Amino acid sequence: MARGYAPGKVILYGEHAVVYGRPAIAVPVTEVRAEVIVEDATSRPGITLYAPDIGRTVDLESAPRDEPLSLTVRNTLACLGIEVYAHPLKLTIHSSIPVASGMGSGAAVATAIVRALSEHLGRPLDAEAVSAIVYETEKVHHGTPSGIDNTVIAYEQPVIFCQGRPIAPFHAAKPFWLAIADTGVPSLTKAAVADVRAAWQRDPVRCERIFCQIGMLVDGAQRAIEGGQVASLGLLMDCNQDLLRELEVSSPELEALIEVAHREGARGAKLSGGGRGGNMIALIEPGSAERIRRALIAAGARSVIVTRVG
Ligand code: PMV
Repeated sequence: MARGYAPGKVILYGEHAVVYGRPAIAVPVTEVRAEVIVEDATSRPGITLYAPDIGRTVDLESAPRDEPLSLTVRNTLACLGIEVYAHPLKLTIHSSIPVASGMGSGAAVATAIVRALSEHLGRPLDAEAVSAIVYETEKVHHGTPSGIDNTVIAYEQPVIFCQGRPIAPFHAAKPFWLAIADTGVPSLTKAAVADVRAAWQRDPVRCERIFCQIGMLVDGAQRAIEGGQVASLGLLMDCNQDLLRELEVSSPELEALIEVAHREGARGAKLSGGGRGGNMIALIEPGSAERIRRALIAAGARSVIVTRVG
């Protein structure tokens, strides 16, 4: 038997623009995680995946080619050079990461599958191989993923991500704290990404200007994080949110939580991930975490996670 785990994640700066070659910053969130247990099966032949929390069972044999869980298993076996795996296996999946909420739930489940399966087969894969397999699964979830989710989750460390550039982990010179509040509104990243693409096709000059501004802001955030200038990170979050609003990926529910976070003293706040719903993040002082958490819940947040970066 083997177990594999993977954390959730949030994007601090740069979502959407990252799909168009600009940099983005993401950090793992270890307060939530996906877990996969792989064991030899006795009751049925073949490879079966169970997700009891959501009442799903997937048989590898009969699943459609683009079913994400079985695709991840097939790609893991292929990466290990196993063409046909005759031995019956049972994979049980649990996850505390909210689904369709910008916290990388799909990438985390896929990462935990790859880790547990490769471990069970006696050949654990490294982060680079895990990330590459999970990227293939992300294509099913997202259409045209930038690769940021699989990277931050498989490497399990803060990253500055830019398509086509080597992975750049970073170090926060001073720790800072985030409140992550879930609007409870599920939102499919694929739809938000497709709408931004349609807007870009209609008016590329306007969208490229926005992406450029986001890219510059991400560069500034990287310098501020690495230089320990935590005070400027809040303003950069607010500026990023203004630009995401211009891209029309915010929502009334996100805006309501952002307003509450500001009112309660957060230094900055923005949506995180695909937007339209899902989670917002706010830069907070640890001393005010409990007050902000209560205010966000009172304003309708489904859950609030407080996490430390650095
Ligand atoms: O919604 P999430 O957490 O999967 O984040 C998506 C981030 C986007 O930049 C909108 C898309 C991408 O592939 O990078």
